[in-house]
Amino acid sequence: MSEAQLARYLSINDFWHAARKRLPRAIFDFIDGGAEDELTLRDNRHAFERIRVMPRVLNDVSAPQIASELLGASVQAPLVVAPMGSCMLAWPQADIALARAAHAHGIIYTLSTMSTTSIERMARAVQGILWFQLYVLKDQDFNLQLIDRAQANGYGALVVTVDLQAGGKREKDYRNGISIPLRPSWRLLRDGVTHPAWAWQLMRGGFPQFENVAGYGGMADHGLPIAARVGQSLDDAFNWEKLARMRDRWKGPLLVKGVEHPEDAKRLVAMGVNGLWVSNHGGRQLDGAMATADALPRVAQAVPTTPLIIDSGVRRGVDLFKARAMGATSAAVGRAVLYGAAVAGEAGAYRALQILIDELKLSMKLSGAASLAELGPQWVQR
Ligand code: FNR
Repeated sequence: MSEAQLARYLSINDFWHAARKRLPRAIFDFIDGGAEDELTLRDNRHAFERIRVMPRVLNDVSAPQIASELLGASVQAPLVVAPMGSCMLAWPQADIALARAAHAHGIIYTLSTMSTTSIERMARAVQGILWFQLYVLKDQDFNLQLIDRAQANGYGALVVTVDLQAGGKREKDYRNGISIPLRPSWRLLRDGVTHPAWAWQLMRGGFPQFENVAGYGGMADHGLPIAARVGQSLDDAFNWEKLARMRDRWKGPLLVKGVEHPEDAKRLVAMGVNGLWVSNHGGRQLDGAMATADALPRVAQAVPTTPLIIDSGVRRGVDLFKARAMGATSAAVGRAVLYGAAVAGEAGAYRALQILIDELKLSMKLSGAASLAELGPQWVQR
């Protein structure tokens, strides 16, 4: 897609519409959907929308400062690309496309355990700052191997996701008959025929493989059935003691993703966790979980000096403004950037991130904030 064509995408919502058109229904729903009644999915968005900015006037806002520091890394914007598995369903080599787009904007990309690009291949392909996200599997040795691989390949931080002790009940996925991994079926064939551009790219890029978990459970290849086995192998007995062992093993900054309760936040920081990622998995796990924009202020109050990331429902640059004002160091985006990649690969992801960054700068100008450092609770009304 040409630059001029991409420039016509003015909002994340524009990418949402285009992704919906381009992807087969089952794939789009897998990305877009949430668990059960999608209450949390919707509320994530509403919670951001309910917050209002209280603008200030007569400040020199000719050059809004949005660069900052996040767990020792210099970043050009308060925005992180959240870990997402199975992205290759949307675009060939989507993980690398997302990571390169993040790097081009000077922001951090987080590689998922269930990415379709291995820890090693990603480290070779992208020069930017990479973090690694760990899904905790029952095989503790395998978890430690993943941690060691991320360490050996220069990943800047480990993100342990703790809100996925079981797979959330995403009913659209059941109804659409989609399984991750994809299995050859009549439906897939029909999707291929009705969405030829997508199917052609999927064939060219090869069927997604979950490269990081190759060898899990003693299987030699990294084919699709292994991923299914990994899905059933999430450690639902993961607890504080096991996390403490990971803390010992990982030498760099450690973040825990999926925190909403202030008491958990305090305990995690007390045990040496360096950053918290306030998330409900974009409404894909516990339906009925609190919207993250509602949870954030209490977490920020409980651990005021700890770096906080918030995700789930971020679709506008002004959401980054609101997140900062409520105590987050940075926001993160999952779907917002993946819709971009689903439409135009790296260039689409780049454009989606650009939209968010431009909107953030505009929000700052229009509300009289010259720098991120100025933002605090006095800038918003909840
Ligand atoms: C995710 N998410 C996720 N989280 C994680 O820790 N590991 C993972 O592998 C995945 N995989 C994944 C796939 C897809 C398709 C989506 C949409 C999401 C959750 C993700 O990191 C993040 O928490 C949410 O996407 C944030 O919500 P928004 O920005 O999508 O509204």
